[in-house]
Amino acid sequence: ARTYDIGLVPGDGVGPEVVDSAVAVLRAAAAGSFELRLTTEDAGANTYRRTGTAMDEDTVSRIRSRYDGVLKGPVGLPEVRHPDGTEAGVLGGILRSGLDAYANVRPVRGLPGAGSPLRDGAAGIDYVIVRENTEGLYLSRGLGVGNDRAVSDQLMMTRQGIERIVRFAFELARQRGGAPADGVRRVTCVDKSNVLRSYAFFRSVFDEVAAEYPDVERDYRYADAAGHDLITEPGHFDVLVMENFLGDVLSDVAAATVGGLGMCPAGNVGRAAAYFEPVHGSAPDLAGTDRANPAAQILAAALMAEHLGEHRAAARMRAAVESAFADEAIRLLPSGAVEGGLRAATRAVVDRIGA
Ligand code: NAD
Ligand code: IPM
Ligand code: MN
Repeated sequence: ARTYDIGLVPGDGVGPEVVDSAVAVLRAAAAGSFELRLTTEDAGANTYRRTGTAMDEDTVSRIRSRYDGVLKGPVGLPEVRHPDGTEAGVLGGILRSGLDAYANVRPVRGLPGAGSPLRDGAAGIDYVIVRENTEGLYLSRGLGVGNDRAVSDQLMMTRQGIERIVRFAFELARQRGGAPADGVRRVTCVDKSNVLRSYAFFRSVFDEVAAEYPDVERDYRYADAAGHDLITEPGHFDVLVMENFLGDVLSDVAAATVGGLGMCPAGNVGRAAAYFEPVHGSAPDLAGTDRANPAAQILAAALMAEHLGEHRAAARMRAAVESAFADEAIRLLPSGAVEGGLRAATRAVVDRIGA
């Protein structure tokens, strides 16, 4: 059987708990078809506290090239900060820009049983947020610009950066079955081109690339209205593409509609490197309580399996999560925490990995 070298970054807060859970499910899905060799990598806010760096060079280079797959937990702790006030334990600059993992792929799917604050529930929700991951408002991340009287961050878009993320979104739309409401293959460009030049440029490059995909409908929303419509007509959406910061905000809005941050995985994908993580953070309020929802991290491991070409294992993992919610073997509290506990939820998923 093939053996995959997997790098694990347990991270901070609930990270180690949810990563353990995802590994248990991945192992169950791999049984009989492939082997896993797991290596744990030290990174995040606790690492920074101990060593003065959130992820050292050797670790970055292993993540860049040594592993077949990388599964990362959430990192960062709000109290671990640089003197400029930004967090010292987060890794977006090092990993997303450093590895040029330019596409942040965030599938949002409503699962029966996972609940939703929406009037019509989450049944008709199945779209993917494609968040640009290397530029936009995050460009000056790590630069420490400004003094205490005026501080600025720069929002920059490059033609090449927009072209590749928009093309990624259209290629993804071609692989999917269209929007739940009408089956139409659609890419929605989300921006603020009514006000800001950078977003107007984003939209014009979107149009140029869209012309290469006449089989996919093009669609537009200003970001504020997009937030509204993700709540009122989520079934309309298929693939959405947007600048980094808008993607950050709207992916948490989206998560709220399908049972909370504990439901949503993310893939950070580039030409040469990729890693997989939950959309949520380290949830310090839940660390050590056995109440975090492991679904996002498990689904992130399923995205990694898919990326490795292990489609059957990925499908089994997703189906097991779905059936655990459908059977109410996992029940969420209104806060998004797991009623019966993370460990019991993990067993429920592992038990449902079929033959
Ligand atoms: P958060 O996502 O950690 O938590 C926000 C809320 O969602 C909290 O109430 C939390 O309890 C809840 N929540 C999060 N994950 C959950 C889960 N799996 N199950 C149930 N409930 C869950 O966001 P935050 O509090 O704004 O940030 C905490 C830390 O995480 C910060 O240091 C932040 O920088 C970091 N962060 C890291 C990543 C990452 O590594 N990819 C992502 C987001 C935030
Ligand atoms: C995310 C997170 C990160 C971001 C933070 C932790 C740097 O919120 O992955 O969505 O802002 O991109
Ligand atoms: Mn975020």
